[in-house]
Amino acid sequence: MSKEFTLEKFSQNPFYQEVNRRLVALANLRPGLRVVDLGAGTGAVTRLLVAAMANGQGAEVIAVEPSEPAIEVARRSLENFGDAVVRFVQGGAERFSQLVRMPVDAVFFCNAIHLVKEKAAVVQEAYRSLRQGGTFSFNTSFFQGAEPPESLQFYRRWMMKALRNLREQYDLSPDKAQRALARQPLSREEYIALLESNGFHVCENQVVPVPMTLKGFEDISEYSLFIEGAMPGVPLEPASEALKFGARGAFEELGLETSPRNWLLVVASKE
Ligand SMILES: C[S@@+](CC[C@H](N)C(=O)[O-])C[C@H]1O[C@@H](n2cnc3c(N)ncnc32)[C@H](O)[C@@H]1O
Repeated sequence: MSKEFTLEKFSQNPFYQEVNRRLVALANLRPGLRVVDLGAGTGAVTRLLVAAMANGQGAEVIAVEPSEPAIEVARRSLENFGDAVVRFVQGGAERFSQLVRMPVDAVFFCNAIHLVKEKAAVVQEAYRSLRQGGTFSFNTSFFQGAEPPESLQFYRRWMMKALRNLREQYDLSPDKAQRALARQPLSREEYIALLESNGFHVCENQVVPVPMTLKGFEDISEYSLFIEGAMPGVPLEPASEALKFGARGAFEELGLETSPRNWLLVVASKE
């Protein structure tokens, strides 16, 4: 069977579960709510949301996700998990209000908002679908400031080693034109301004430093969207192998046990 390149392996890392759990806790969910999980992927956050609403009569999680293979993995992993009803809907966050029964109590968009070009459309859709007082929560580790200064040497070394390995072992290199087109991520301040200009009140915004292990970097190097971002135009298998090789080499040369990365956590309420 060919490799799936999903986020499932990475999403089992304790540091990743912790940062997602922290966001869910900040949103103060009660049992019995109706919650939307945008970009649900293989269900890492969906499982946390179901657990947060345990024993709640009428609790419902609507997992919205564009990738059919990811939905299939999530569906399998959520069978017989917890009490809430989980519904899966295939679609993007930019127009999700057409796909769910409104109003909902909370909307989550975890580790995915940076992937979306039309961020204002997502924020407006969240506002439209929420009841008064409902919350929109997201987290991301791809924003301006995600890479603390003390981690920059590692990132440079990682990419240098990965690119060299790709060239020497596979005679491949990323597509320079696509790399140049990569969008500049938003800053924390830009995310807050986007929410406030669309009627939200920002209740929580935290930058959480996360010590990432070598296993974390190896596992993210097996995820298709990460590989395509780091090595555009390169087939997934060799790109993944080169990224893992580079991460191992950089950790070893720099004598690291972990390398820090910042996560931005935001909770905003509909006023
Ligand atoms: C890194 S995964 C995050 C999965 C899960 N939310 C988590 O936190 O572990 C990003 C997910 O966003 C999805 N995605 C990409 N573009 C999207 C869009 N426009 N709308 C909704 N989801 C999107 C991808 O298919 C992928 O499953």
